[in-house]
Amino acid sequence: MFRTMAEGDLGRVLKCLDDPSRFERLFEATSYRPDWTWVAADGDEIKGVAVWWGFPTSERPLALDTLWAAPDVDDPVGLWAALIRRMPPPFEYHLFTSPGREKAPEVTLRLAAAELAGLGDVNERLRYQWTDDDPLPRRSTRLTFEPEPDDEEFAALFAAIAEDSLDVATREGVARLGALEHSREDIALYKQMRGPRDQWRVAFDQDGQVVGAALPSANDGGPVVGFVGVVPGQRGHGYADDLLAEITHVLAEDGATCIRADTDKVNKPMAASFERCGYQVFAIRIVASFPPGEVAGS
Ligand SMILES: CC(C)(COP(=O)(O)OP(=O)(O)OC[C@H]1O[C@@H](n2cnc3c(N)ncnc32)[C@H](O)[C@@H]1OP(=O)(O)O)[C@@H](O)C(=O)NCCC(=O)NCCS
Repeated sequence: MFRTMAEGDLGRVLKCLDDPSRFERLFEATSYRPDWTWVAADGDEIKGVAVWWGFPTSERPLALDTLWAAPDVDDPVGLWAALIRRMPPPFEYHLFTSPGREKAPEVTLRLAAAELAGLGDVNERLRYQWTDDDPLPRRSTRLTFEPEPDDEEFAALFAAIAEDSLDVATREGVARLGALEHSREDIALYKQMRGPRDQWRVAFDQDGQVVGAALPSANDGGPVVGFVGVVPGQRGHGYADDLLAEITHVLAEDGATCIRADTDKVNKPMAASFERCGYQVFAIRIVASFPPGEVAGS
């Protein structure tokens, strides 16, 4: 029987999960919710679990976070696909693994289930991390950084940066909504994150021309690089390093001992910049999504 989690299920669901304390923390914060957690139950026994995540303020979940099946389930792929189909799209599936384990069965079986349920577009994201054991990257001497309180100015800057972006979600968002509307949606998402809005910066070169945007931020796991972007006319000078170094310094000055960031594997200039700035890949986030145009209303 497929049903959402009932009050009495909590203890049994926690026993199924690799990281029960994370579940409890996010459940408390309402990022996980009973009606966003589906179980496959056989009498009193839980045979499968699917957990979706959203912001505490979200009306609907944004991402499927966890798929679990009991070891005696014969067809976990079929069970997971059936669980995933319970939640109306759109949402993404975020699957975390270690570098080198992208083709391991715990990954491929879950991706097969996601594909069966319609989430057939797969994007690999590299998860980078800087820790205070690493030296701080050199702070820019060729750019200056200014705050910009007007969200519409930031949206216009994000829209300019979106041109020829190699970031998969940006390309999809621009195709779906147009550059400005997609950028407004992004700004709204960044504002829901934990990092203070007043640390967002616009970067200028020595002639006073706009170079790009640098957004330090934070999520449930701690400080993160929110966004780095260079406008098309200024690309090719390695300015991503200056923006990333600025973000790293701002967060480290605020006491961050570990800073994390994701970028698409296909976004090679950005991945190279993380590596030049002393960030290291510590995990892979595989994102499966519904192909654009296949989700009614999106
Ligand atoms: C990622 C990004 C910040 C890199 O910009 P940058 O600092 O100018 O990059 P670099 O100067 O290190 O570029 C290295 C090379 O990649 C090329 N390059 C940079 N961005 C490119 C793009 N979007 N498309 C194609 N080539 C690009 C540069 O022209 C340069 O080529 P060259 O070696 O032949 O001269 C920029 O592409 C960008 O703003 N993209 C959109 C936003 C984004 O993806 N942000 C990261 C996700 S959070």
